Amino acid sequence: MFIADISNNQEKLKISFTNEINSLQLPPFVTYTATSVLGSESLTEEFESLPLPCNCERLCNQSCPCSAKVNIYCNGILSENYNHSTGPIVECSDLCTCISSCPNRVVQHGIQFALEVFLTERTGFGVRSKEFIPKYSFVCEYVGEIIDEHEAEQRLKKHGLKESNYIYVIKEHISNNKCIQTIIDPTFVGNVGRYLNHSCSPNLFSVPVRAGSMIPKICFFAKKDIFPFIELTYNYGEECIVDRNGSNCARECQCQSLNCCGYLPFIGDNWIT
Ligand SMILES: C[S@@+](CC[C@H](N)C(=O)[O-])C[C@H]1O[C@@H](n2cnc3c(N)ncnc32)[C@H](O)[C@@H]1O
Ligand SMILES: [Zn+2]
Ligand SMILES: [Zn+2]
Ligand SMILES: [Zn+2]
Repeated sequence: MFIADISNNQEKLKISFTNEINSLQLPPFVTYTATSVLGSESLTEEFESLPLPCNCERLCNQSCPCSAKVNIYCNGILSENYNHSTGPIVECSDLCTCISSCPNRVVQHGIQFALEVFLTERTGFGVRSKEFIPKYSFVCEYVGEIIDEHEAEQRLKKHGLKESNYIYVIKEHISNNKCIQTIIDPTFVGNVGRYLNHSCSPNLFSVPVRAGSMIPKICFFAKKDIFPFIELTYNYGEECIVDRNGSNCARECQCQSLNCCGYLPFIGDNWIT
């Protein structure tokens, strides 16, 4: 079974689907979207507001108030010395005066490697790239409905302990022990990112990036050089995907890496604070 483009031309490159194992198709209830949509009205203001613009000419450099000042990106990839303490990544946006090839614009240009959703042997659908991906390149975003805490609780109650859970909670620690929480649910509306599986030895990591909205995008970058047709995975435990399967939530990890810790990471009942 093969579908040439599950994104229906919404991405810059086609996202194919292939199942070489059986006749299982992608879930029909999922609507593809390349950018996140608002799922809770309470978040309208943040969703629509843009980060403060810069007034740099043409290409931003270290004097730019956006992230260009700390050289977060270098030649279109995440800089080697980036780490979470480098501070939040804020890309230039529509209100900035720089041009679209400004070095502080990366994830906003979208997917740059041909990705494929495929049926894996052990973990349902997964994602791989048909092209080589160099270390620190942007791979894709985790796109879905942006929902508030209340809505997330309602959805978890309603859909209960389903086979898979797709809700992703990102917590950003800011000054004064404060924390900004963003919840993304691609269960019904999402992009290729919703099919990424967990591995205890992943080849992707995620970083929150503000690009075109004050709500952060969860962006996956390559942790190492990735060869074509190798499954793309990230560690659900470093990130905060909620996996509630069964009352004790102990679901066996099938990543088969040498350092597999045996179980899928689980964020306990107090996952929303
Ligand atoms: C975000 S979804 C990933 C896509 C999913 N495989 C699918 O077919 O739609 C997360 C779910 O995938 C499965 N999964 C992901 N990684 C796994 C792993 N390492 N071992 C076992 N199941 C895994 C679990 O069912 C988990 O709840
Ligand atoms: Zn710029
Ligand atoms: Zn600038
Ligand atoms: Zn594992």
